[in-house]
Amino acid sequence: MVTTYTTETAKTYQQTAEISIPEMDTVLAVARRMFGDLEEKLVLDFGCGTGRSSRLLHQWRAYRVLGVERNKQMLAIAESLPSPGIEYYHTSDARLGEYSEHCTAAFTCCVLMEVPTREGLVEIHNTIARLLLPGSTYVAVTSNAVALPYESDYISVHQAPGFTGRGGDPILAQIKGEHEFEFIDHYWTKQDYQDILESAGFSVEKMTAPVNSSGMEVPYLAIKAVRL
Ligand SMILES: C[S@@+](CC[C@H](N)C(=O)[O-])C[C@H]1O[C@@H](n2cnc3c(N)ncnc32)[C@H](O)[C@@H]1O
Repeated sequence: MVTTYTTETAKTYQQTAEISIPEMDTVLAVARRMFGDLEEKLVLDFGCGTGRSSRLLHQWRAYRVLGVERNKQMLAIAESLPSPGIEYYHTSDARLGEYSEHCTAAFTCCVLMEVPTREGLVEIHNTIARLLLPGSTYVAVTSNAVALPYESDYISVHQAPGFTGRGGDPILAQIKGEHEFEFIDHYWTKQDYQDILESAGFSVEKMTAPVNSSGMEVPYLAIKAVRL
């Protein structure tokens, strides 16, 4: 089970990230609509990992993408792949300071559910808020607490041992198939996300959890917020 990204697990993550998962595809389609037109936008992709979300933003016609990541193994894979219109930075890179209030949209894709503490979530959003021009759109694709437990042919998401229903509690997520991938995520409710975003200077406009072909909410949520 993956708890941190090593060279080996980063490679497996990248293989899994390339596979089409219906639940993820539907929430990404919602995220894409939430952004609207990206053609003139400098888009911050915070927690870009191996670059899946940055490449997606490029496909969605973002003018330029800044992929920011703290894990060097993940970043190395992102940098090794074709990345037209994308620049990658480690979170500690001093050059990021030059982008203060320069980004005109921001994205976190499958990042927030990896964060175990409220303080960690606030810190991420304070950083995003600092880099975003006021009035800009921020979209997050993250976990949907009310869909738990969830089981499909593609993914399984369950409460992990020690789960009590409090913010930050462990959740066990599994991507099924050829490149099976199991990892611990963290439980956050819509109210938690709303409180954290507001405390970092965002106004939440929408939270949407799409439904699957059986009419059940998928375990992913798309959030649209505006930097005040
Ligand atoms: C599940 S991966 C998602 C990667 C990518 N966004 C995607 O859609 O495939 C989550 C990434 O968020 C990164 N991350 C988590 N917390 C972070 C933080 N505080 N600062 C920067 N990156 C962070 C992790 O290192 C990891 O690479």
